[in-house]
Amino acid sequence: MTGDLFGDRAIGDGAMLLRGFACGDAAALIEAVSRIAALVPFRHMVTPGGNAMSVAMTNCGTVGWLADRRGYRYEVRDPATGKPWPAMPGLFFRLAGKAAAAAGFAGFAPDCCLINRYAPGARLSLHQDKDERDFSAPIVSVSLGLPAVFLFGGERRRDRPRRLALECGDVVVWGGAARMAHHGIAVLADGEAPLTGNRRINLTFRKAL
Ligand code: SIN
Ligand code: FE2
Repeated sequence: MTGDLFGDRAIGDGAMLLRGFACGDAAALIEAVSRIAALVPFRHMVTPGGNAMSVAMTNCGTVGWLADRRGYRYEVRDPATGKPWPAMPGLFFRLAGKAAAAAGFAGFAPDCCLINRYAPGARLSLHQDKDERDFSAPIVSVSLGLPAVFLFGGERRRDRPRRLALECGDVVVWGGAARMAHHGIAVLADGEAPLTGNRRINLTFRKAL
């Protein structure tokens, strides 16, 4: 997987940054996020250590990702409403599949979309996505709204992460040898984005079950 004419580039073995891949869908994606958030509001989950996360989260799909005092896991129901998470919109599913295929992972069928909302000052510390049942499927991450600095490191937490500027419409895919890469988001700078005002929205697609 090497860079091509459109500016896509490998950011590691099994990891690819697809510049602007979701630009054409950005407005429809944001509208869908608003509809989902009207049913299952964004909330600041509390980590097992007892700290509220600065990123606000909600989910759609068969399962949703959760943090609480008991740990990190996927659940079929939203504990806040007691109801199943809203279905994943077809647009989300298709976009994630196309992005995965473009990065070399054909047949990606996500069952979870974790939706992250960042306000200025919010950050996501370096972590691995490891609550999924098996790691053969990649992670597909779609950036919308305000730009952010993506930290993309290695399998070991101490591996020094690269800093990649992500703009609205950029998609990062990591799987295979990069599946357990540590990643995070640096403190979000203030700004104004056409679709989202002073927020960044991230869609993280996973095959959890
Ligand atoms: C995540 O790792 O869940 C989110 C990454 C991002 O916001 O780009
Ligand atoms: Fe993650």
